[in-house]
Amino acid sequence: MVTPSTVPADVVELEVGAIAAGGGCVARAPDGRVVFVRHCLPGERVRALITSEATSYLRADAIEVLEASPDRVEPGCSHAGPGRCGGCDFQHVALPAQRRLKEDLVAEQLSRLAGLDLRVAVEEVPGAPDGLGWRTRVTFAVDHHGRIGLRRHRSHDIEPIEHCPIATDRVNDASLGAHLWRGARQLEVVASPDGGKPVVLVETGKDRLDGLPGLDVGIVWKGRTLRAPDHVQFEVDTVRFGVGAGVFWQVHPSAAPVLTAAVLSGLEARTGDRVADLYAGAGLFTVALARVVGPTGTVVAVERSGPAVADLRRNATGLGQVEIVRADVTPAVVGRRLGRPDLIVLDPARAGAGRDVMAALVGLDPPPRRIAYVSCEPAPFARDLAVALGAGWTLGSLRAFDLFPMTEHVELVGILEPPSA
Ligand SMILES: C[S@@+](CC[C@H](N)C(=O)[O-])C[C@H]1O[C@@H](n2cnc3c(N)ncnc32)[C@H](O)[C@@H]1O
Repeated sequence: MVTPSTVPADVVELEVGAIAAGGGCVARAPDGRVVFVRHCLPGERVRALITSEATSYLRADAIEVLEASPDRVEPGCSHAGPGRCGGCDFQHVALPAQRRLKEDLVAEQLSRLAGLDLRVAVEEVPGAPDGLGWRTRVTFAVDHHGRIGLRRHRSHDIEPIEHCPIATDRVNDASLGAHLWRGARQLEVVASPDGGKPVVLVETGKDRLDGLPGLDVGIVWKGRTLRAPDHVQFEVDTVRFGVGAGVFWQVHPSAAPVLTAAVLSGLEARTGDRVADLYAGAGLFTVALARVVGPTGTVVAVERSGPAVADLRRNATGLGQVEIVRADVTPAVVGRRLGRPDLIVLDPARAGAGRDVMAALVGLDPPPRRIAYVSCEPAPFARDLAVALGAGWTLGSLRAFDLFPMTEHVELVGILEPPSA
């Protein structure tokens, strides 16, 4: 217990305010500076250790709770806490309160960046009622002894972890910690809930790996399959998708069906429609939309990654209505390669589509009937939405899904409608 007379200079007492992007809350230091504090909740009074200092703000970890929020719970992970694993932001927060905090974060970005006064409910998804056991893909760091772990918050230090409570049993049962991965820097393990062996993608700066583990997993290194399999199979609405090591796939087991349903119901595609699927990955939305528009329709799928395009091609086998464009999504590609789409879905990486691509999409003539924007990051989503609103488009609907329990992250599906609609 820290008593005031023994409080070190870098420990301050704080009244904790609202949640902020980045997983911490905002407080004021005694000298008036803004402090972003982790491991606390709005309304709490805490003692916090200053962990870093910038010109205009401080970062801190709450190390003692003086007045606790009713939303505080015992973390479900023994690695969570100040100075420990940086993977989860909300292990100490009850799940309904986690969702309210995410609602606050989304509302703040919509207001700040898109000028919209809108609060959407963050919907619980099936599959992880306690917020644990949902990650089908985990990236482990490897220390110089070859032991796996997860990085501490904003640090290169590694918290040794062999069992991650938010990962699925199939990921944890791969027992990657039973091997010393000497020479590796990072491992990404992906295990499908639909069966098959987990696949491990090994990243290393070295020319060779120091020994293959005696584990029942596929291993891919520097683009080479050292041990099969090098793909995992996911099933969505009776369709099987093969996804290679390193190719994007939604991480929560419910994400693929939930997002597919949200996109399909939001777009209301019809038989014969021409649809563009931008940032298509291994083809999750491409295949679903191709089935709806049928052989008389078309789905133009645009994706930059070669391995993703190879998977997409295989996953769309037999669907002659799918046209695949391997390219970066740019204003020029939007203008020349999509061919007057009736509908568009875009699901860009964390940074969003960007203003130029967004301006090109909402500037299409004739405009598509609807655009579905899928995003895992509220700030770039709100920035891109502002471009659409500025061009006279409206946000027809917005849904938010709790696809990343225990973290500050949230998935959004916005349906945009053109000026004439
Ligand atoms: C969030 S994933 C979405 C994939 C797919 N919609 C899904 O749900 O499985 C984003 C995809 O966009 C691709 N990508 C990232 N930046 C891109 C760009 N500028 N142009 C084209 N594709 C890009 C990535 O390779 C990745 O496959």
